Amino acid sequence: MSGSSLTDDGSFMTRVVTIDGPAGAGKSTVARRLADRLGWRFLDTGALYRVVTLAALRRGVDLTSEAALGELVATLTVSLPPGGVFLDGQDVTQAIRTVEVTRSSRFVADSPSVRRRLNNWQRAFAADHDIVTEGRDQGTLVFPDAFRKYYLTASAEERARRRLAEYQARGESVSFEAVLRDHQERDARDAARALAPMKPADDATIIETTGSTIDQVVARLAEDIQRHLEQSSWGVEGARRLTS
Ligand code: DC
Repeated sequence: MSGSSLTDDGSFMTRVVTIDGPAGAGKSTVARRLADRLGWRFLDTGALYRVVTLAALRRGVDLTSEAALGELVATLTVSLPPGGVFLDGQDVTQAIRTVEVTRSSRFVADSPSVRRRLNNWQRAFAADHDIVTEGRDQGTLVFPDAFRKYYLTASAEERARRRLAEYQARGESVSFEAVLRDHQERDARDAARALAPMKPADDATIIETTGSTIDQVVARLAEDIQRHLEQSSWGVEGARRLTS
């Protein structure tokens, strides 16, 4: 349990940095790069919702049935080795990124039983590792006591441009207008839903990334984390790693 800290009651605590925000804000890339820099694990919670969605589509599960989604999620074996996503032993790293999975994921994200199970899974992941995690509800609901919390935003147009480039790199043909419309609909739904709405935690730092490169955003967060590591009871070990 290297890098973890012994608490007053003798238990170990791992460190969690949360990065929440809307689709296309750069959360995944930034979180992955930060985790690499810190030597911590990266947790992509969107990938978990996508895996459940993919499984539902493949098995013909009714996405509108809460009972069916609850049963489905209880049967899945998901693993997240660094850089990959496996469903029941099969590599689905690319398969979960299609436009179809993205569009259908909202049903799964709205399901209380799916959210409950995935929240438990996310907390279990953090029990073993120091992590940088990204999603919509990480700072608000899943890790309210996180070490540092960030909320990444960017203009709707910039986010759509970034996501379009990802689709194109994978050979999927979709228009800029369609991605922009999808994002606007998804953002509105994610922010308005009663269950785990997408919003910054009260103690999150808002990071506006329009016009910034990924390198600039990572550097800004790394500097902020370094400052807080140095000031905190976690000691300087993590901070040293960031600057090395
Ligand atoms: O970030 P993403 O596009 O990979 O997210 C996929 C879906 O999962 C999307 O519908 C939002 C949802 N999601 C969520 O509800 N809560 C999270 N913590 C992460 C993702």
